[in-house]
Amino acid sequence: MNLSDYFRIRLSTIRPDKTTTFDIYIFIDQKMILYCKAGDFLSDQKIEMLHGRDSGESFFVKTIDKEKYRQWVKEEMLSENIQPSDKAKILRESSLAIMEDLFANEDVNKALDESKPIINDFINFMDQHPDSMGYLISLSGHDFYTFNHSLDVGIYALGLGGALGFNKKDLEELGLGCLFHDIGKRNVSLDILCKKGPLDDVEWEQMKRHPQFGLMILNQNDSISDGIKAACYEHHESWTGNGYPQNISGNEIHPFARIVAITDTYDAMTTQRSYNVPMKPHDALTMMKEKLAGRYDPEMLKAMHSVLFQLKATGS
Ligand SMILES: [Fe+2]
Ligand SMILES: [Fe+2]
Repeated sequence: MNLSDYFRIRLSTIRPDKTTTFDIYIFIDQKMILYCKAGDFLSDQKIEMLHGRDSGESFFVKTIDKEKYRQWVKEEMLSENIQPSDKAKILRESSLAIMEDLFANEDVNKALDESKPIINDFINFMDQHPDSMGYLISLSGHDFYTFNHSLDVGIYALGLGGALGFNKKDLEELGLGCLFHDIGKRNVSLDILCKKGPLDDVEWEQMKRHPQFGLMILNQNDSISDGIKAACYEHHESWTGNGYPQNISGNEIHPFARIVAITDTYDAMTTQRSYNVPMKPHDALTMMKEKLAGRYDPEMLKAMHSVLFQLKATGS
């Protein structure tokens, strides 16, 4: 058995009201065991039992069935019997499985291409349910892996880009820029990425190279636009200067990168990481406005405030 013949799914994306079109496997004792055959109707109890065991890492579908799984999710997103809040969850969870691959797959070009439809799925969902941003935001910030972080940075950015009046094409590009903004962390050693506590100087120097590493990776893929590359390469630049790697400032920084700078910090501050306590949304934004003000485009920071706090009514 080859693990690369399978991809991981979240069981929260599977609902009882439809027969499956693909086999679902469970990974036990280093073996892939068929748990639910394609065409089986999962009962409520079975789903509930399965959900109870879903640690986020033990259920798989064969890679050759990836398109069927995507189609399944797509149909769920169009179903009229599912509440927008549940749809938001299905969309986020199914996208996370793809994002995880983006950071783990040896073939980074293939992973880049496969993760592209995610942003369109989100944009369509937001079009369909104009109040959906609140549901999506309420699901963000619960864990700290790079792939979750990248998706959440993208979700916030779509909200912020929308508030700034971006058209659909720009939103799509911005969203992809967010998914890929930390892709260069693939080239930073895991010891550094997972270190608890502060990095020493040498480690910090390596960490700070992730925008360059990212640009190198994105340059190898012909279909990545300059805007997407800028979101990656310039997201640690600072509005008044003193950022890295180029130390540029103000409007020299691409608008996508100015947005990522905001949503990136906001997500980092409000998310539970191994080494910090998450801040409340309001406290995080106040700190960004007061203590870190020079780092961000002030107009964009204002818009971020409206995105987050006008949504409270729909979020949980
Ligand atoms: Fe970064
Ligand atoms: Fe980041």
